[in-house]
Amino acid sequence: MKISFHNICLVVMAVAAMCGCSLNATAQQLKAENIDEIVKAMTLEEKCHMVLGRGMHFNDEAKFPGTAGSTFSVARLGIPETYCADSQQGLRMNATRAWDHNDYYPTDFVASMTLASTWDREAAFMVGQGIGNEVREFGLDWILSPAMNLIRNPLCGRNHEYYSEDPYLSGTIAAGYVRGVQSEGTAACPKHFVANNQETNRNNNISQVSQRALREIYLKAFEIMVKESDPWTIMTSYNKLNGPYAVQNRELLTTIVRDEWGWKGMFVSDWNAGDDAVAAMLAGNDMLQPGQDKQYQAILEAAKSGKLPMEVLDANVKRILEYVIKTHNFKGYKYNNEPDLKAHAQTVRQVGADGIVLLKNSGILPLMGKRVALFGCTSYDWISGGSGFGGTSVGHYTVSLVEGMRSAGYDVYKPLIRAYTQHIAAEEKRLFPNGRPPFSLMPPARADEKQFTADELNAAIDGSDVAIISLGRKSGEAADRSEADFYLKEGEKQLIKVVSEAYHAKGKQVVVLLDICSPIDVASWQNQVDALVCTWQGGQESGFAVADVLSGKVNPSGKLPMTFQVKYGDAYADKNFPAHVDDKTMGSMFMWGRNKDDAKKREPQANIDFTNYEEDIYVGYRYFDSFGKPVAYPFGFGLSYTTFAYENMCVSEVNGIYTIKVDVKNTGKKAGRNVVELFVAAPNSKKLNKPEKELRNYAKTSLLQPGQTETVTMLVKVEDLASFNEKASAWKTDAGRYNFLICSSANDVEAKASANVKGWTKKVNNVMKPNVKLNLLKR
Ligand code: BGC
Repeated sequence: MKISFHNICLVVMAVAAMCGCSLNATAQQLKAENIDEIVKAMTLEEKCHMVLGRGMHFNDEAKFPGTAGSTFSVARLGIPETYCADSQQGLRMNATRAWDHNDYYPTDFVASMTLASTWDREAAFMVGQGIGNEVREFGLDWILSPAMNLIRNPLCGRNHEYYSEDPYLSGTIAAGYVRGVQSEGTAACPKHFVANNQETNRNNNISQVSQRALREIYLKAFEIMVKESDPWTIMTSYNKLNGPYAVQNRELLTTIVRDEWGWKGMFVSDWNAGDDAVAAMLAGNDMLQPGQDKQYQAILEAAKSGKLPMEVLDANVKRILEYVIKTHNFKGYKYNNEPDLKAHAQTVRQVGADGIVLLKNSGILPLMGKRVALFGCTSYDWISGGSGFGGTSVGHYTVSLVEGMRSAGYDVYKPLIRAYTQHIAAEEKRLFPNGRPPFSLMPPARADEKQFTADELNAAIDGSDVAIISLGRKSGEAADRSEADFYLKEGEKQLIKVVSEAYHAKGKQVVVLLDICSPIDVASWQNQVDALVCTWQGGQESGFAVADVLSGKVNPSGKLPMTFQVKYGDAYADKNFPAHVDDKTMGSMFMWGRNKDDAKKREPQANIDFTNYEEDIYVGYRYFDSFGKPVAYPFGFGLSYTTFAYENMCVSEVNGIYTIKVDVKNTGKKAGRNVVELFVAAPNSKKLNKPEKELRNYAKTSLLQPGQTETVTMLVKVEDLASFNEKASAWKTDAGRYNFLICSSANDVEAKASANVKGWTKKVNNVMKPNVKLNLLKR
């Protein structure tokens, strides 16, 4: 342990408590009913410690080695230490411990993007519940997830940790996850609040966002999540937003979230976010993690001088204690280190399969032939999740594609297994002459594709009924992807061309699997292949989940939670994103962002020092749809092995609540589930500068047998239809006739009904103004 002033204080106070020379020998013990008295009984020093974390727990001596941190304890007042860990794909913790023969493997759940592609709140609940349960049974209290920043650009390095380009889908999936976590008595921590949409220079970049885009897009996702799931904690982000750091912004944390939304939980900073501990306290950010000595000093001095009023510090401490009393450690839960890993593996497999999106199918899928040849390094080096704190990388195993296909009864062509094993081993030596780093925030380099001789290829064609080519992309925390990463590498293009031509020449087909962390180019090459399956990253059971879908055991029902654009640059947001930053380590954890002294010496650089969100509200499909731009695959797209019809759609209204009903009928030959997407188009949208249509609700049917019909009911409130009017500083639903659209993607309207909507307005605080003039896109 580092010897520091902070640690010395902790020791002194612990000794004082142990020797019975406590500050108050008869001190009462923390209970749900006496938090105010406990705050009063705390010394100033104890309060100043309470608002700081206790460092990261990476060393072997920690109680839970490899976890993110813990909270301060005051034994004399019955305030225990509580423990937190990352993250949304599972509990990040060392699986083995020094001097202990047991292992502590958690489940490697699915990447967030996979979860969002299910469009299934229940799936989100199940994953959250599984993670919440493992946190509890391994002895901790608090999981630092879900991450739920908006997917503004396909190159953001942490997209695999996020859900969608749409705030409603993001907010509702996050809410399902939070409810699941908290149903186990574990604290959830939605993050990173807010507008933290790039990793480059992430600790210093200023997101410059209009009040309207903030309210309608970036805050909206969190607002929906807060109102639907009431998380016990929320993590503030690294970036600055319209001026100050998010963690130090009182308008953001207190005026909007606490006063307007009525949220009563505890804000915790991202790890080492911000530069002014006192400002963070004043803003309403209750806890700073992982805690620094200089922060302790600053808070203590400010409290003594009155710069930090005691009632503010007390309120911060109170909210922390309100979290503490709900935790497992406070309740003395006897954990057993034996969560039901088998049941959780089942969840991973099921959700992993339900999150797979079928993009193209000539009819080859589900696979009839039993002999498959697997091409592409990724087929033998499957990516189960992203890197950084968001991926667990500590799961026990990842079921390979080979294992998955074999267990589904397929015969995997063996000479390719051998050839790829040798090729990947040689590439590994070339790329990592000194071995792989044990853990990295940014993804390690991946092997270049192997190319084949005509003889090798002919033998593979003879030995298989179909070729499956897997393409992989992995990204992580602290760096964004580059534009080049959006496109296929030369070796990948060559592989697709050669394999497709050769298989087609012999009357056989080619399936491509996309084991990716974020959208890539498919438009330029997909005509060469017969089927395209976006598997995303499905955690430890990936191989089984993919085989379940390829074999038809599971009928795909996933839908894209974001647009697949034709080219990088097609989205308006692309021009304000660091797609071409040479020094990708600029945002790295190890540098804590761009050197501030260096930054002072030069003109602020666009997309590095600041990023102007000039696309305004036109993020994702809101842009492509409203401006008539072609896409490779629209938001909400996904095929099935069966077909569905939508009948008897109707809309009715009572007291400003619209009820939309539609009958969904399975008109095909296979059982399947269907996602029903409800978009609403406002009247005069172009004139009023509103998106063409917006997702306002969705539902997922149960498994419908051929010929079976299910009536789906969805609600929309008049206030859900509101846009944010900056001039009036108000939410406003314009009166008029609105179109309610049942869609199978943002580009495919299946049924329509309209209804008169009365006007509705709600005034809110005129806060969070950008401090520069933004050149905003308008329709
Ligand atoms: C990440 C957070 C994470 C925290 C603690 C930060 O670098 O941005 O998402 O929860 O570390 O590990």
